[in-house]
Amino acid sequence: MREITATVLENKKIAENIWSLTFSAGDDIRIRCGQFAMLGVGGQQLLRRPIAVCKAEGERVTVCYQLKGEGTRRLAKEYKAGETISVLLPLGNGFYVKDEEQRVAVVGGGVGIFPLISVIREYAGKKHISAYMGFRNKRALCMEYEMQRSDKLVIATDDGSVGYHGTAVQAFMEDLEGERPDVVLACGPTPMLRALKNAMTGKGIPVYVSLEERMGCGIGACLVCVCDRTDGKHARVCKDGPVFEIGEVIL
Ligand SMILES: Cc1cc2nc3c(=O)[nH]c(=O)nc-3n(C[C@H](O)[C@H](O)[C@H](O)COP(=O)(O)OP(=O)(O)OC[C@H]3O[C@@H](n4cnc5c(N)ncnc54)[C@H](O)[C@@H]3O)c2cc1C
Ligand code: FES
Repeated sequence: MREITATVLENKKIAENIWSLTFSAGDDIRIRCGQFAMLGVGGQQLLRRPIAVCKAEGERVTVCYQLKGEGTRRLAKEYKAGETISVLLPLGNGFYVKDEEQRVAVVGGGVGIFPLISVIREYAGKKHISAYMGFRNKRALCMEYEMQRSDKLVIATDDGSVGYHGTAVQAFMEDLEGERPDVVLACGPTPMLRALKNAMTGKGIPVYVSLEERMGCGIGACLVCVCDRTDGKHARVCKDGPVFEIGEVIL
């Protein structure tokens, strides 16, 4: 993990309420898919905000974020090209696909699609990837060109304004028999992950999920991000995760 003062190269709106920020980390940083960064947002906001790394190309790193509250609003407003931003990265364990797992399904919803784009970028051409990506509606759709690197792409929208009418989990479950993935990687709101867990119980296919708990430090020190494990213990999402085997954690 490094703390850097990065230079913003671009920060622009890419869909309704969604922005993409690209910064230069100064030199090449090896970032595994599913890892995240803590971005300083300045002003009165002392805590950095955790955002998944969507793309890492040499020293160029891109994150995509939804405007939620003060922190993300400041990110969009204050960090124009040429400004500097304080960043901790890379953080967390990230997604791993084993050598023997050749067929990979990624299932994402809302801002959960962004870490999965890093998975598609890392494994496209090396594994067979089927992607099921859920959005609220057509206006929220973004990064389609990145998702199209997968072998199969299903866009799902809650209102049916584009693609499959329903959730990414529903679209994925309809395809499960045909696609027969060796492993499933997922990220999205907790109700979505819970639905996936219920649907995949007893299928004999490993499922890994990336959790999006609120965070304080991002490096394992403050315990703000602790989640409950099924064995009665606790885990720090920032340090022990954010990726867990789905049966390991209580959703
Ligand atoms: C590992 C990780 C990766 C993430 N990756 C992304 C990403 O790629 N893109 C993206 O847009 N967001 C991502 N998030 C969520 C993002 O961190 C929060 O949306 C952001 O911190 C909100 O900050 P804010 O100051 O704008 O809102 P706040 O004012 O802090 O909160 C506004 C609202 O959002 C809710 N909220 C805040 N943090 C979270 C959270 N972590 N999960 C769910 N709800 C939250 C609050 O309860 C409140 O209702 C990620 C979170 C984690 C832990
Ligand atoms: S955010 Fe501080 S321990 Fe995880």
